[in-house]
Amino acid sequence: MSEKVIVVTGASQGIGAALVKGFRAQGHRVVANSRKLQPVNDPNILSVVGDIADPAVADRLVAATLERWGRIDTLVNNAGIFIGKPFVDYTAEDFANVMSTNVAGFFYVTQRVARQMLRQGNGHIVNVTTSLVDQPIGAVPTGLAALSKGGLASITKSLATEYAAKGIRVNAVSPGIIKTPMNEGEDRNFLAKLQPMGRLGETEEIVDAVLYLDRAAFVTGEIIHVDGGAHAGQWQIAS
Ligand SMILES: NC(=O)c1ccc[n+]([C@@H]2O[C@H](COP(=O)([O-])OP(=O)(O)OC[C@H]3O[C@@H](n4cnc5c(N)ncnc54)[C@H](OP(=O)(O)O)[C@@H]3O)[C@@H](O)[C@H]2O)c1
Repeated sequence: MSEKVIVVTGASQGIGAALVKGFRAQGHRVVANSRKLQPVNDPNILSVVGDIADPAVADRLVAATLERWGRIDTLVNNAGIFIGKPFVDYTAEDFANVMSTNVAGFFYVTQRVARQMLRQGNGHIVNVTTSLVDQPIGAVPTGLAALSKGGLASITKSLATEYAAKGIRVNAVSPGIIKTPMNEGEDRNFLAKLQPMGRLGETEEIVDAVLYLDRAAFVTGEIIHVDGGAHAGQWQIAS
């Protein structure tokens, strides 16, 4: 099957917008979700606006996709927020916001999409995590990213094994620091130094990894790091 139906959450900008472009360039049909979306003039893009942490939005996203195209081949759980702070400075609101988008925003839509994929007998789910799960950086504390995205990395393997014999693959992409609006306004020279290759990643480099996973029929439970080597180990000697 060449023309798939792909659902991308967090599609209005950054990695999500690049994913929409990348999947469309392959000729696939894309369902784009975000809380705000610009109108598009492309019959092969269906926009579903709403907070992905809301189960009613997840219901609407799946129902609209099935009504338009009758199946879901791939779900990319890309919507996510990042709040970096020393652990004791996180507020209850920070905790609620991060867990809402990063965890509830994964849970409700993935459950609904998985039910449909089980009916179809095939499908692919890709989670977007972060290399900070494997290689936290003491100087840049990000406890809530570890807590929320660590869960996504873990459930990637859990669901991959649960669904391997049912035709559904589950994989993840683990980005390093990628040039997107998420870190606009920050000191990107400093951020570049946090990765062994000494630069920020490009959104297209994440898209390449997702497109690879999407066609890799014998790959499941895999977490591909696209992070300039950041997950690989400690590469700087403390002075
Ligand atoms: N950029 C990086 O360096 C980096 C590194 C590691 C991991 N990641 C992960 O990569 C993913 C994409 O990040 P990005 O850099 O492209 O971020 P971004 O530029 O801030 O874009 C985030 C996207 O998610 C959407 N979104 C946020 N909350 C949402 C919600 N509750 N419901 C629906 N959509 C929501 C935003 O649109 P609306 O505001 O319109 O909803 C936006 O389209 C995230 O999961 C992030 O954690 C990024």
